[in-house]
Amino acid sequence: MALDVAPLTPMSLEMLLDRIAFEFETRNRIFDLPTGRFWQPADDIDLSFEFLGRPAATPVGPAAGPHSQMAQNIVLAWLGGSRLFELKTVQVLDDLEIGRPCIDMQTIGYNIEWSQELTVPESLDEYVKASMIVEMLRGWEPLRDHVGADPGPHVFDMSVGYDLAGIQTPKVAAFIEGMHNASAAVERLRTEIDPDGPFGAFRDMAFTTALSNTITLSTFHGCPPDEIEAITKHLIDDHDIDVIVKLNPTLLGHDRVDEIVHQRLGYDYVQLVPEAFDDDLQFDRGIELIDELSSYAADRGHRFGIKLTNTLVVANHKGFMPDDPMYLSGPPLHVLATALLDALATALPGKFMLPGHDGAVMVSFSAGITKENLADALAMGVNPTTICTDLLKPGGYGRLAPMLRTLTDAVGDAGCTDLGSYRAHRLEAAQAAGHRDVVAEHLDHVLGADLGTYHLTGNEKLPRSVDHTLEMWGCVACNFCVTVCPNDAFFKLPTQGLEGVEGRQQYLVFSELCNECGNCLTFCPEEGDPALVKPRLYLDEARFAAAEGPRFLVTPGEPHTAVAAGGADGELDRLITLLNADEGLPLPPSV
Ligand SMILES: Cc1cc2nc3c(=O)[nH]c(=O)nc-3n(C[C@H](O)[C@H](O)[C@H](O)COP(=O)(O)O)c2cc1C
Ligand code: SF4
Ligand code: SF4
Repeated sequence: MALDVAPLTPMSLEMLLDRIAFEFETRNRIFDLPTGRFWQPADDIDLSFEFLGRPAATPVGPAAGPHSQMAQNIVLAWLGGSRLFELKTVQVLDDLEIGRPCIDMQTIGYNIEWSQELTVPESLDEYVKASMIVEMLRGWEPLRDHVGADPGPHVFDMSVGYDLAGIQTPKVAAFIEGMHNASAAVERLRTEIDPDGPFGAFRDMAFTTALSNTITLSTFHGCPPDEIEAITKHLIDDHDIDVIVKLNPTLLGHDRVDEIVHQRLGYDYVQLVPEAFDDDLQFDRGIELIDELSSYAADRGHRFGIKLTNTLVVANHKGFMPDDPMYLSGPPLHVLATALLDALATALPGKFMLPGHDGAVMVSFSAGITKENLADALAMGVNPTTICTDLLKPGGYGRLAPMLRTLTDAVGDAGCTDLGSYRAHRLEAAQAAGHRDVVAEHLDHVLGADLGTYHLTGNEKLPRSVDHTLEMWGCVACNFCVTVCPNDAFFKLPTQGLEGVEGRQQYLVFSELCNECGNCLTFCPEEGDPALVKPRLYLDEARFAAAEGPRFLVTPGEPHTAVAAGGADGELDRLITLLNADEGLPLPPSV
């Protein structure tokens, strides 16, 4: 069944706070993330770093993408241990229709999700809500045992795109200024904090209003070099911003990318798009640009950095997603980004803030970061590492804390207590082994001893499937739809002992938070689309009325009530029983 894709409808701050407190109290989770997956820093290992001079307690966070668009996503990433948030790219065209499905994480990563789906003012509100919630959670006593007494500082980094004209529009300029000074939004939103509710004590708190004064510029594939230069200068001059320019893997040139992706990594089926290489920034011009823009920024008292990398444009050979081309991420991109870093470090010695180079240009890294390669990637000197593909795999945001624990162990095992000394230690070891630096060592490693991790043969396995058609009630209850959903649209309810409700767990979806990205469809072992087959709940009457297919309009209360439409009437009694169970709808009756 194909349904029109409805816009995302963010939950209000009031509802998000009610949900946090209620879920925490009734099931020891927040937005479906169990407290066992929250990040607690170790007392003796310091993972902090400076993001363009701003302190952040861990070098990890969501890359601009589906995990940094809505308030609950950012809160989930924070609970998992992220302290650097590269917010979803905001651009002037905020009423575009994105083809669906737009995410394909079956093996490596592909997507066609190149624009934010909220309006620009809605995006600002989501980021302000997220910032306020994180500040409240930092001081919320019940959470202390799970996130530690001092969760440390975090940084919100804006991402804007995709051309100068769009960035100069009053709409995008107001967004940037709104992130600079969010007092108006904070004052409006604080009235949603119930003075008698669990977060009432924070209602009059002095919330941060200067949310962000850094931008990672997302240059869309094909963005001309002069445009990149002009946008960076505009952001520095007109908005007083420190800028990171996100570079594309095409900078390596067609032949090198072809050699790595096809010859070395064996992805025969990946079809490069030659025009993408012709249209994108060329290596020599890239070198000039980095040189020029870093001096331009420094002359004006600003910091400058680069980010490696955006996704790789490839032809859509699969047809799972409707657009062509599509954008590749994950394991092969990790090798490409490492190769690009090596090429840039060779071409511009002493330029980058890398051990052994000691330059001033920070290098941020997002390309196939996983628990397994995080410590090695950070050892190169990149700061921070942001993640998208790995968080879209089963476990979702719950994958962050184990990553950070593995990193903590790596630092501790090296006899170090912080990232700086760990990097110095790794540089010494790399040079002793004959490498120029850790970048060269890591490139050698990913194309040599560890090739299997990045090669086609290590990334062919398809998600598990069972020969059964998905039904509204009853499935293999693998929980994947809950964890792979970046928006936390899915949730599970236990059914034990409930009359007329089968199975151990039932899975339901808050349809207003679902953008039909397709990620749960990919990972659900059964045949069918969980986002369309499982009980689809609406809280907003207008959204419910405009939707199609079997669905329910839920009114939280004591008891919770619901009405059905689209042929779901026969399922209404069962739904209402489930929603009113002890561990029922994850919203308090008062909402
Ligand atoms: C579904 C999806 C959406 C993305 N959206 C954006 C975006 O809005 N802006 C952007 O600069 N990069 C976007 N990216 C690229 C990521 O920020 C990241 O640079 C890239 O995916 C490489 O990291 P990974 O291998 O960990 O996924 C997106 C990636 C994915 C998979
Ligand atoms: S419920 Fe499924 S389709 Fe909807 S946003 Fe979540 S993962 Fe994507
Ligand atoms: S709907 Fe699919 S993904 Fe979700 S729990 Fe059931 S079997 Fe697993």
